[in-house]
Formats: sequence, structure tokens, C-alpha cells
Amino acid sequence: MDNTKTDLTGSPSNSDFNSKEKGPKIHNWVDFEKGSVDRKIFSDENIYQTELKKIFARGWNFMCHESQIVEPGSYFTNYIGEDHVIVVRDKNLQVQVLINSCPHRGNTVCRAEQGQTRSFFCSYHGWNFSLDGKLIGLPGQDEFYRGGLDKEKWGLSKAPHVDIYKGFVFASLDPDAISLEDFLGWVGRLGLDQVAEQGDIEVVDGIQKNVIQCNWKLAVDNLFDWYHGNVSHGSAMKLGLLTEEFVAPMSQMVILGEYGHAIGGPGISQKEQQRLIEKYQHVDTASNRKKPKNANSWRGEKSAKDALGPVGIRCKGHPNIFPNLWVSTGGTQLCLRLPKGPTTTELWWFTFVEKSMAPEVKKKVIQGAIHFFGPSGMLEQDDGENWSHSTNATKGFASSRRPLNFKMGLGLDEIVVDDSGQSSIETVVNEHAQRWTYKSWQEWMKAESWSELIKNHSSEPKGKI
Ligand code: FES
Ligand SMILES: [Fe+2]
Repeated sequence: MDNTKTDLTGSPSNSDFNSKEKGPKIHNWVDFEKGSVDRKIFSDENIYQTELKKIFARGWNFMCHESQIVEPGSYFTNYIGEDHVIVVRDKNLQVQVLINSCPHRGNTVCRAEQGQTRSFFCSYHGWNFSLDGKLIGLPGQDEFYRGGLDKEKWGLSKAPHVDIYKGFVFASLDPDAISLEDFLGWVGRLGLDQVAEQGDIEVVDGIQKNVIQCNWKLAVDNLFDWYHGNVSHGSAMKLGLLTEEFVAPMSQMVILGEYGHAIGGPGISQKEQQRLIEKYQHVDTASNRKKPKNANSWRGEKSAKDALGPVGIRCKGHPNIFPNLWVSTGGTQLCLRLPKGPTTTELWWFTFVEKSMAPEVKKKVIQGAIHFFGPSGMLEQDDGENWSHSTNATKGFASSRRPLNFKMGLGLDEIVVDDSGQSSIETVVNEHAQRWTYKSWQEWMKAESWSELIKNHSSEPKGKI
């Protein structure tokens, strides 16, 4: 790194993002028109390093929910790419995102995953930092530094952009980043609304975490995948734990948004919507599974429709907030697919409940969350093994020469724009959302700056796709 271009006193500077000095030659790894993806992108170290800069550091990353950091001094630690960060409510109730690395020798200044503190004290030599990252004390300022250390210059680095959408805290390390609202667009917002609009929600204490030996993009790819259920989860189906209607519904809906956001999965056709309204007087858009009484139920069809729009209310698929935040079906969980090297991904599951739920109802929601996902859940035990094998087969001499096949539904569907302006594809099982995610990923990787990305990214597609 060229230190003359780097602001050593704080957050990353514009020159960190706009330099063209490093990174792999950007090839057309993704062929959107043909539906093929080069396997190299799932294990190449140089490509991975470029992702950390151009996708994770540049983009908006989900940090936590406001309910996790209510009081001054309450904090939650997370990652932006591989940068460990502390998300903390400061004394003025502002949310700060601090890089968890002491400017002295780089030690972490916070080892806990979450908690409450008055300051961040480095366990190596004792530098002490305020909740907004300022260096407020250190041993030997007079005796050893002899007054020569300018404390103003040696605070913790910070994310230059922190913003909150309906309680969800996001941060970007790029000073040139567009606003969170613009980044999310209507598709990203719709995905988060599926959780946020269900009531006065909070995160259940304790984030479920597990590591899978796979590339993070294969874990993202799978959340749109309604092709694998019957096969990958076949053993759970044989035991009667899952039904075909649940893992592989025929009626599918896809919504594609700017900057790589997408929603893919089951959808309710207008005809089916009418039937549900006649039968139940409402459409439970979030899930057609039976839920515990009062569990995160929509407060009536009117409020759901107001919040999600006429197309959004019929969409029951999985949103992915680009690059790696999955809103799981039913809107009770969010999952981050955190990169830990080109062939390792850590999954973090956040479970939400309504604050007013009875304790026994909360317990049922939590039991359901544990049952399906996380280290003890039945779904990703099956999925994770497949992703690991897929990742391994991107490294071999012969296997890596063969691009992966993303041709399902290619050129066979139509994007229809509703009177409200919301657009969607209504079809059968398909790979539109995956293709869109990889296409967008390539646009992020090719752009050398936010201004280039703004200029060159694909706008929302229309017509035949
Ligand atoms: S590494 Fe933090 S005080 Fe030395
Ligand atoms: Fe699965």
C-alpha cells in the first residue's frame, strides 16, 4: 500500500478505492446472455482480494439491528469483508462503526461479540478509546512519548458512512458511496420491509454462527435455488420433515433490482391471491406455513399491501440484499454469508420476534429458527456439503476449465411491470436471480470507483429475459 495516499488518522480515503494499481485483470467471467459463469471466481485468491475492496468495502454492509444497540455504550461486532468492526451507540446516541484494530500494533480493542462498555481498552499496551473512536488515554504519554504523541491523530478508523433503514444498520467504507436509500432501491427496501413491517421487532439474543468450506457466492446463489430442494433435502422429505410444496413450489416469482439486489422463489399468482382473500380474508405474504399463534403475523392485509405494494404482497421468495444478506422466508430471520477467504464462508443467523409476543410464542419462533437453519438446522447441513464440493471442483485443472451452467429459464420469460410500477417475472423454477446476481457482481468488480459503477451498472431490466 502506498502510505502517502492513505489517511493514517481515520477512515479509508478516496484514493484507497480509486487506485488502479492492483487486482486481477477483469475478464468476462460471467456471460449473462449465454448463462455461464467461470469457476475461477469461486476460489481464486486475487479475485477474492478484489471482492474485499470493490464489493464489500465499497458497498453497504448489514451491521446489526437497532434493537441490539439501544443504550449508549452498547455494541455488536461484525465484519465488512474481513475488516472486523465494532457497531456502537455513542454517548450522543449516534451509531458509530469503528475498525476493531488498535492503531499502535493492530490488536483488537474489543474481543466480545456484543455487550456494553464505557470505552474500548486495548489489552496489549493499554491505549483507551472513546465510544466514538477517539484516543482518550494511554500509558506513558508523558514519560515515554514525552508529550510527543498527538492523540487527535491516533483514534480508531471509522466507516465514513453509517445509515439506518427501518432499524437495520448498514455501513460503507467508501467515502464516495451513494446513499443507503439509493443503494437499496425499491427491491432492496422490499426485501427488508418483509421483516421490518411485521411489527415492533427485535433481535433474539445470540446470533447462530457456523462455518462452511465454500465460496460465499455459492451460499448466496443457493438462497434463490428452488431446484435443489427435492434432491438435496430428499432425506428430510422421506422422514416427513419437509413437504414438496414447501421445498419446490411450482409457482415462482422473481424481482430484479439495481446494484444486484434480487428476490427469487415462490409467488402467489393474482388468481391464487383472489382465492386466498375469499377464503381467509387476507394474504399472508410472508409465508403460507402454519405459524405459532401471533407469531410475526401481518397486521391485516391492508397494512401489508401498503408496505409491500401490489406485487410485493404476492412475493414469497427469498430476497438477497447485495452482496450477502439473505432475508429468509417468513421474514423472521436474516442471514449474512460472510467471506472468510476464497473457499470459506461463515453464516450468521439473526432471528427476529415481535417485542409484544408472549414468551411461549417467542420460544416457538426460536425453536423453529434453530430447527431449520444454523449449525443444528436441518437445511444447511445438506446444502453446505454440496457447496463445499462445488467449491472444491473449481480448483482442478480439468474441472476448472468447464464454466458452470446457469441456463434455466434463459430467454424464456417476460418481466411485467404492474400499474404501480413494481416489476416481476412470474414463472416456474428458474435461474434468473442467480444470473442477475453474477452479472451485477461482475459490474461491481469491473468498476474502479463509485462514479464508474453508477455510470456502468445495469438498470432494472425490462421485457424478455
Ligand atoms: S496494540 Fe493497542 S496499545 Fe499497543
Ligand atoms: Fe437448501
